[in-house]
Amino acid sequence: MYDLHAHILPGADDGPKEWDKAVKMLLRAAEDGITGIVATPHVSAGLWDNPKDKVASLVDELKQHAGAVPIEIYTGSEIHISPETVKGLKNGRYCTINRSRYVLVELPLHFTPDGMYDVIFSIVSGGFFPIIAHPERNPMVQQDAGVMYEMVRLGALGQVTAGSLTGTFGGEVKKLARELVTRKLVHVIASDAHNNGPRPPVLSHAYHDAVKLVGDKAARVMVYDVPEMIIENLRFEPEEPEPPKKGALSFLGKWVGL
Ligand SMILES: [Fe+2]
Repeated sequence: MYDLHAHILPGADDGPKEWDKAVKMLLRAAEDGITGIVATPHVSAGLWDNPKDKVASLVDELKQHAGAVPIEIYTGSEIHISPETVKGLKNGRYCTINRSRYVLVELPLHFTPDGMYDVIFSIVSGGFFPIIAHPERNPMVQQDAGVMYEMVRLGALGQVTAGSLTGTFGGEVKKLARELVTRKLVHVIASDAHNNGPRPPVLSHAYHDAVKLVGDKAARVMVYDVPEMIIENLRFEPEEPEPPKKGALSFLGKWVGL
């Protein structure tokens, strides 16, 4: 399996503080059957500044500490989106996933849905593929899953967090995570690991839950095929998503002038 979302770089964000803890996280991931993991430190204005060069140098250092741990480590980041995001992508400051056109983004809490659509549209128009990190934990998507449907229609992909599917974040988040999976509004399962405690780099439990939900083939695609294609910077055509019942077409109708 591949894990596209993990906070494993000491000194970068709220992940592990020491190298030995980071290496223990890699060991845990490898034991779970993860063969490749993307280091995605937070990037957030005024809080965490993790430009591409810094991430690359921390990943190199982690590889040295990891020694013979059987796991590949890739560069990435989790960018808290703002109207400036596309500029940072175009000028090469931000770290995309393994230097691909795919970028992991986190939705802000203070935007309106229209504001988010504008930023997502600008990223897609700029030639990048935004992957929305854990939409099931965003209040706007919790209020109306149609918000995620509209972002997918604009060209975004979705990453559901393993712990959301298994119940770490409560019953409501679990229910929404399952709905997003069944409606093809998320395309990747990732750990969003921060430690080896409550937020570990483990995918197997969520993968087994997804098998029960959508079958083995569709579940495998979310932990093997799609993340591998993203790391390799290959294009893939996501399946047509199913609109949630409430509010699904509100924005698209307005956007295309209907
Ligand atoms: Fe994260």
